[in-house]
Amino acid sequence: MIGIRRGYLDRFPRVNLGIWPTPLQELSRMGGRVSHHKLFIKRDDLTGLGQGGNKTRSLEFLLGDALRKGADVILTAGRSQSNLCSLTAAACCKAGIECVLVHNDDPPDSPEGNMILNRIFGAESVFVGKVDEEQRTGKMEAIARELETRGRKPYIIYNGTSTPLGALGYVSAAFELYGQIRSQSLDVRHVAIVGAMGGTASGFVLGTALLGHPFHVHVISVEYPKPVLHRLMAELISGAAEMIKEVEGLQPLAPPEEVMTVYDDHLGEGYAIPTPLSKRTWYELARTEGILSEHVYTSKCLGGFLDLIQKGIIPPDEGACYIHTGGLASVFTQGVVRLLQASGEVV
Ligand SMILES: Cc1ncc(COP(=O)(O)O)c(C=O)c1O
Repeated sequence: MIGIRRGYLDRFPRVNLGIWPTPLQELSRMGGRVSHHKLFIKRDDLTGLGQGGNKTRSLEFLLGDALRKGADVILTAGRSQSNLCSLTAAACCKAGIECVLVHNDDPPDSPEGNMILNRIFGAESVFVGKVDEEQRTGKMEAIARELETRGRKPYIIYNGTSTPLGALGYVSAAFELYGQIRSQSLDVRHVAIVGAMGGTASGFVLGTALLGHPFHVHVISVEYPKPVLHRLMAELISGAAEMIKEVEGLQPLAPPEEVMTVYDDHLGEGYAIPTPLSKRTWYELARTEGILSEHVYTSKCLGGFLDLIQKGIIPPDEGACYIHTGGLASVFTQGVVRLLQASGEVV
């Protein structure tokens, strides 16, 4: 499974986990609502692994690296509704390797959303209580050391895949989208992508810079203020660019910082707290296009994208594409039921 040829980034070990390219569709009814008739959506919620989502792309490179190093168990960490955790669990099934998930939460009374998927995929979930991310990493490393004493070969996926190697997943997404746009002769000059820890957006920005700035990348921050996300992305972009230069001999044709604009005006009250716009957008995407999003990443990013259109920053005559990064399992949680009840949509 390692080293699948796709014509780019072929020299990195890679496990084929998804169905590529993901669909590129027109958002005609939603576009009509904002008087923009060249709106597209790239369906990375339909990557074909587990419940789908952005981390599938990063996991292809990270598991490729793990298998090359002889790992027999993968460890990663997140809250109990982490999309990365459940996708890692699914990826490990496909790669035939064990998976241990470290959650900085207490065990739930009854599992829901991603927790159910983790069980279905047979991952071992370890709950370490409500500690911060640094402490959670420390606990994960301690588990890895303990596994080593038992003769196992653990491989840790750090920082929610926001590492230079993990960012390569979205370098490949930029190449893939560019190929779709060219082969279908589409006019897409703007792309909107979400930024939390920044690995996804960094890869996409670097891919766009390697291609020479065919579209402008609008990064909608959902976790950190702009200066913090900028700093995280600058480190990831330079780390990933270095790797690509060394392994593939490719260099950006445009300065990465010039192909992107970062926005932090949709953070609202903070990470994972929906805003009035993100809640409206969530319903609107479902009810105009029959497509689901969720409240932490995708509806906030889509709301930000529509806001850029309404402010004229993305003009109505320039094609624009929103990258849907998935995360749908969290829709099936009590948190979302409470939101629905609060908005009067269900009783
Ligand atoms: C569905 C979804 N979209 C977007 C992101 C953001 O990715 P990043 O942390 O690479 O910025 C995540 C992160 O977990 C996610 O689960």
